[in-house]
Amino acid sequence: DTKGLKDYYKNYFPIGVAVNTHNLTGNESKLILKEFNSLTAENDMKMGPIHPSPNRYNWRNADSIVRFAQKHHLKLRGHNLCWYKQTPDWIFVDHYGNTVSKDSLLRRLKSHIATVVDRYKNSVYAWDVVNEAVSDKDTSFLRNSKWLQICGEDFIDSAFCYAHEADPHAQLFYNDYNIINPQKRTKIYRLLKGLLNKGIPITGVGIQAHWSLTEPTREALETTIKLFASLGLKVQITELDISTSHRWNAQQKGSLVERKRISDSLEALKYKMVFEVFRKYKKYINGVTFWNLSDKYTWLNHYPLRGMRNYPLLFDTLLNRKAAYWGVVNW
Ligand code: G3I
Repeated sequence: DTKGLKDYYKNYFPIGVAVNTHNLTGNESKLILKEFNSLTAENDMKMGPIHPSPNRYNWRNADSIVRFAQKHHLKLRGHNLCWYKQTPDWIFVDHYGNTVSKDSLLRRLKSHIATVVDRYKNSVYAWDVVNEAVSDKDTSFLRNSKWLQICGEDFIDSAFCYAHEADPHAQLFYNDYNIINPQKRTKIYRLLKGLLNKGIPITGVGIQAHWSLTEPTREALETTIKLFASLGLKVQITELDISTSHRWNAQQKGSLVERKRISDSLEALKYKMVFEVFRKYKKYINGVTFWNLSDKYTWLNHYPLRGMRNYPLLFDTLLNRKAAYWGVVNW
């Protein structure tokens, strides 16, 4: 049949996928064009890959993803402008090899953001401006990153202001994982409410949605979406996958084939539920993006639980639609 995910959801929100340049040719590119109408660069727009040394930008891969999106009229999310990971070492060090001052680091951050956002101003409609700045530890508010150590909390405010200056039309997101966790959710709410109270230009919150067969519950997901919508923020699901090699599955008895069959059906139920919630809150949700195209290349296979392969997406290793696909499109 001719319909793809984007067609089933044309009256709801764009359906996106995180890509690398190897997804832009052959059967994978055909599947992308059939099913999706939005892209995110999985790695190629991050600070380390795109800005590897002070005076060198590496535009090649990001440009090819932008060209692909422009050629096929796909929306494009920018990921990401400020993160504690995949940040080049040079940015935190001054000419003498000492830790850079706050002013210098903010100047470097501003220059990076201005350069990257300006280049993609007419292609990227939404940026993950700050990624994963809130601590996972109950004892602290923000993650003790070099950004926080050198600049204090206002590196977050600055990053959003720099991005807005560079492209006043872009939607600006704060992006994080485990947002459903009540402690972390409360801290993220506090952070975003604070930014809004200071008039910092922020459009929405990115819920990464790296979920599993056992989480989230429908209630926790609804509570989380309503909480951030109550701030007047847009909500995007930015990195959706549903891990099948979660602890639950690892403890199950039976052959691998049997466990795979069970997890496929549980996965379909979980995808069905979360998309019921996404459709219910379409007023607040303006994008849902899967993290990777198919089970063949999921990032989760770099984080295997006890060596088990992971099958977290809607398309299998041969790019065929799985039971989970039908859980998403049949309602
Ligand atoms: O490009 C280099 C290559 O030159 C080198 O030979 C190779 C071996 O070291 O590493 C390659 O870089 C890898 C990069 O992916 C590109 O493949 C890094 O090692 C590897 O760490 C990196 O992993 C990415 C990870 O972010 C980095 O933390 C994953 O692909 C990517 O899916 C993942 O995505 C993140 C989101 O950006 C933020 N939310 C969480 C999500 C999952 O961690």
